[in-house]
Amino acid sequence: MDINSDTKLYCLIGHPISKSLSPYIHNFSFNKNNINAKYLAFEVDKYKLKDCISGIKALDIKGFNVTIPHKVDIINYLDDISEEAKLIGAVNTVKNVNGKLIGYNTDGLGFIKSLYDKKIDLEGKNVLILGSGGASRAISMMLAKEGVRKIHILNRTIDKAKKLINDIKKNFPKIEYSYSNLAEFNINNQQDIDIIINCTSVGMYPDENEIPLDIKFINQNTIVYDIIYKPLKTKFLKKAEEKGCLIINGLKMLIYQALISEEIWLNKKLDLENIVMALEKQDFLLKNRNY
Ligand code: ATR
Repeated sequence: MDINSDTKLYCLIGHPISKSLSPYIHNFSFNKNNINAKYLAFEVDKYKLKDCISGIKALDIKGFNVTIPHKVDIINYLDDISEEAKLIGAVNTVKNVNGKLIGYNTDGLGFIKSLYDKKIDLEGKNVLILGSGGASRAISMMLAKEGVRKIHILNRTIDKAKKLINDIKKNFPKIEYSYSNLAEFNINNQQDIDIIINCTSVGMYPDENEIPLDIKFINQNTIVYDIIYKPLKTKFLKKAEEKGCLIINGLKMLIYQALISEEIWLNKKLDLENIVMALEKQDFLLKNRNY
């Protein structure tokens, strides 16, 4: 669609943003849905955040995404935040409603949607989460909200796993929790894991030969999810697939979190499944397969 005086601007702010796929995903979706809008990525470091928000308000930009390092600090500039953003303690999507900035978090929602897409029911499940960073926090909070039975978190830095568990427990006290050091994990006390989710960066390009957890801990009935999408099939997923596990990569979560942001900005339901299918065939995403 051509740019004209009615074209709306949406954007990403963060640092660094040069490798972001968000502009591709949003501009593709805007085009496909005949929405007169464009999406740009702006390099904004922590010193420029305040001015950036003033600029967004002055130009009446209707919505934007927030990435590293602003996902927590942005909350200081917002008028309100959604239930998910409150739970997670971080915001990745902001909507400008008549000058008031409302924060949302679509990372966890995108993850959950990608599981429901595969008809995976979460209620009563026993989940093992690797990592305790921002992505792990969003995902584990949403898993708790969806009614899993048990959450075990493994992390290299044990104190961070403990803190995350304590934060989830405050909101969801009925779930069974445990945590341990990633290097000291012992399968003996972790039978019957339904889903393992790698939320660490271990195995990500350019370190594709690394694996976050020894595959001997995984049985073939476990669903193995790696939120990494570069490469699309990490060594962890390859090994799990060889064992016969159902594997899921991070591409759908990435696309869904972006499209759910768009639904919030536009205040309308999009045909998510159709856009995802079309997007998955696009060159800019397929190129990831080369990594
Ligand atoms: P994101 O926003 O993608 O979640 P993050 O908040 O920096 O990124 O979190 C990265 C996660 O990967 C953390 O759990 C980190 O472990 P620490 O808390 O011990 O730092 C984990 N991680 C990164 N590199 C790792 C490595 N080489 N081995 C094990 N875990 C690693």
